[in-house]
Amino acid sequence: MFYDDPRCIKIADRIFKFENVIPKDIYGPIIDKTKDFTKGTNFNSWSMRNWYENRMSPSWVELFPLWEFMEELIYPELVGHPVMSLMVTDNTDEGMFIHTDSPGKGNCNLLVEIDTWQTCCELEYGMIAYLGDYTGGELYYPNINPDGTVKPDLDKSSNEVYEPLWQARLLEPCLVVETKPGDVIFHGAAYPYDHGTKPTLTGTRYAFSNFILLAEDNPGTFYNYKSPEYYEQIGDKTMASLGKWMNPLEINPQFANVIAEAIERDNLHREGKDTNIATPAIDAMKAKIKQ
Ligand SMILES: [Fe+2]
Repeated sequence: MFYDDPRCIKIADRIFKFENVIPKDIYGPIIDKTKDFTKGTNFNSWSMRNWYENRMSPSWVELFPLWEFMEELIYPELVGHPVMSLMVTDNTDEGMFIHTDSPGKGNCNLLVEIDTWQTCCELEYGMIAYLGDYTGGELYYPNINPDGTVKPDLDKSSNEVYEPLWQARLLEPCLVVETKPGDVIFHGAAYPYDHGTKPTLTGTRYAFSNFILLAEDNPGTFYNYKSPEYYEQIGDKTMASLGKWMNPLEINPQFANVIAEAIERDNLHREGKDTNIATPAIDAMKAKIKQ
């Protein structure tokens, strides 16, 4: 497993860090690419929470070597599905809201974002690489003590009982993890690894979020890294080949209507047409979200 790598630092159970591990020849071209990008200019139909709306980059071919580098860290036991965009924050942004990366196995009814790859309920870890010239943006874990021990579970018998306990917990000291440019962080995907990020204080912080699962848990929506089908699909690693790789092998039936609406809006945007169309499935999903 990745945590047997001598470069891997254990911070707490299921929280790990590789410090300054991204090779310069991978890091440099991504940073060059960010210089041509203005935050908030990427049309994004795919996020249900408003927080993401102006904070995602387009798909960049320059991110593919970083994706492969991160897959090497976790190979062969774990795999990530295709990802090609960055989350972008600066000092005009609030920190990222507290969330878990997965509702946990068997809890797909609790999903609040489109689960394109049918992996969100199977995840073992979130694996995030950080780039940019920034300060701030630390990760924090409200359910984990500063010494790495897990706080007791809160009484979830009713929202009336739970909510005051949770609000009190947010005022307590908790584990805070610095995320410096070049680092790769791993944390458990489900409870108790709820996490948020503190605001970026200076500069622009780029986070490359990958969500990883056991190779044997791949639901068949993508080809595992280094499989013969994977090599065939990525072809010459140009955007034309990688565009196919970015499409799941099977549409998630739970989100088929939402995905169809997102694709339609993307296509209208690409054609320079009005994207302000009726999206009842997206609206219904957004209505369930407080954030
Ligand atoms: Fe996360």
